[in-house]
Amino acid sequence: MNHYKLPEQRDFEHRIAGKNTHLITLENSRGVVVALSDFGARIVSLLVPDKYGTPTDVVLGFSHIQDYLTADEQYHGVTVGRFANRIANGRFTIDGETFYIEPNNGPNALHGGAAGFHKRVWDRRVVYKEKADFYYVAADGEEGFPGKLSVMVKYRLTDNNELVITYRAQTDKPTVINLTNHAYFNLNGEGNGDVLNHRLQIQATNYLPVDEFQIPAGVPAPVEDTPFDFRTPKLIGQDIRYADDQLAKGNGGYDHNYILDTEVLAKKLPVATAVSPTTGISLDVLTTEPGLQFYTGNFLSGKDVGKRGQPYGKHGAFCLETQHFPDSPNQPDFPTTLLMPGEVFQSETIYRFSIVK
Ligand code: GAL
Repeated sequence: MNHYKLPEQRDFEHRIAGKNTHLITLENSRGVVVALSDFGARIVSLLVPDKYGTPTDVVLGFSHIQDYLTADEQYHGVTVGRFANRIANGRFTIDGETFYIEPNNGPNALHGGAAGFHKRVWDRRVVYKEKADFYYVAADGEEGFPGKLSVMVKYRLTDNNELVITYRAQTDKPTVINLTNHAYFNLNGEGNGDVLNHRLQIQATNYLPVDEFQIPAGVPAPVEDTPFDFRTPKLIGQDIRYADDQLAKGNGGYDHNYILDTEVLAKKLPVATAVSPTTGISLDVLTTEPGLQFYTGNFLSGKDVGKRGQPYGKHGAFCLETQHFPDSPNQPDFPTTLLMPGEVFQSETIYRFSIVK
């Protein structure tokens, strides 16, 4: 199999909807390299030295921008918005007015609609090797959402092997917002089979069971005595094939929002940690968001072929998407996702890498 290498800049230079696209590379002093594209303000590659010092690409993706246009829509590495995750029936109400997002996932609106932020070419401002800021202004009514929304997503790579992602947004009318990154991680290296051998810990006592359309149904449930309990580290594969109604509703795996424990959030400790026993690469996730969608790539079908020519099959990656809870605009008991004019939306997530020997 080929070695991991960064995609070529020229293979990401293209024109989409009248705007030029680029590949931007950040690099720290410890050999971590991140490649980003302004198409979807997305992560394309993330090279991390493994326990032998060999650069290992730990995210799924493609080596040509065209592949992102023709691949199955899996949201590879993208910034998801204006509203990450599902809105039931694509409908919600603000101040008595109902808004409608065209359903693109069964009866639901998923990830901001068919032409959400992941399909947009963002403006960019880059500080050589160190950071890249992306800007996008979503029009009032775009994909059905109210309010002109100015959004900024900043990626910064530190010498502590942290990829810090900061979000900021302002609106001119009341709207709803939920932003996340949709990187597919495989800490064994992209294309190296499934992630079932990874050890995972999630600091959540409760999660949100879903209905047949993957909308949170009713009240949060304790993870205790269910396959959803990752409070003590365990292998992703340990219980994934357990005969469990919720795993079935997740299409044969995890695809659920965890309610992160508030003490862990308050102490700014990692809310999740994943470790590959083969590479020794460990990923800590830190966030200011209250929820974490843990998704085990259940819809990856093997149809898409990645950066080194390997097909991306079921469970070939996991996503740890920091966010507010799914369908919040329709669930009054959830923390609000309303953003009002004059307010500033702010959120931060850190993906931090280290080696476990
Ligand atoms: C995830 C979502 C999954 C699936 C995936 C994209 O965020 O939870 O159900 O839609 O995105 O394929």
